[in-house]
Amino acid sequence: MKNKILVINGSVSPIEKSFSVALTNLFIEEYKKIDPQAEYIHLDLNNEEMAHKTLTRDNMATYFNENDTFKYINQLKEVNKVIIGCPMNNFNVTGLVKNYLEHVLLANETFSYKYSKKGEAIGLLKDLKVQILTTQGAPFGWYLFGNHTEFLKGTWEFMGAKVNSPVLFAGTKIAPVDKQNPNEAVLQVKDEIIKAAKEF
Ligand SMILES: Cc1cc2nc3c(=O)[nH]c(=O)nc-3n(C[C@H](O)[C@H](O)[C@H](O)COP(=O)(O)O)c2cc1C
Repeated sequence: MKNKILVINGSVSPIEKSFSVALTNLFIEEYKKIDPQAEYIHLDLNNEEMAHKTLTRDNMATYFNENDTFKYINQLKEVNKVIIGCPMNNFNVTGLVKNYLEHVLLANETFSYKYSKKGEAIGLLKDLKVQILTTQGAPFGWYLFGNHTEFLKGTWEFMGAKVNSPVLFAGTKIAPVDKQNPNEAVLQVKDEIIKAAKEF
């Protein structure tokens, strides 16, 4: 059976200037060497209305609707792998990714408290394998209170997915990386990418 891979772009940078897009492209390039048959579905959250919608008191009753929630949950159930590229924005994932997750984290669809031991949820996306590819302007460790990579790992695991070792490309706003072409800059973590692609 062919692998079906959903590639989520959660960056708000122009495509050609985005380090997380470059990281994603490098990962796919390496993964294709191992699995040339895989099919890809590209989901750029900039182009998805649902990722622009924040949950509020006024839209709470209609937020989890067919077009904004079930379409995307079904998409997650129709693929067996997800690659998600996401930069840090103000110490967390981008608003686009937060809105996406807000829509797909739905009880009894992607996780359940039914039949679980006290206080523990059961993830329902058991067949999914996820590769997290993150970036941040600052080097890792400048502010450990903000860790979008761990946030994403924990969130996908909560939904039952098996999460591969994430690859973080940190320090994109620091010289000389800030002046480099993203496609060249991400080659610094090529070994990590190759290792992750082999395990994906
Ligand atoms: C609105 C905004 C907020 C940001 N907040 C942070 C931050 O809190 N910490 C950080 O290290 N970098 C921060 N950055 C820098 C980005 O993480 C960095 O430039 C990243 O490479 C941009 O995304 P890209 O992967 O598409 O290039 C921020 C950038 C933007 C545009």
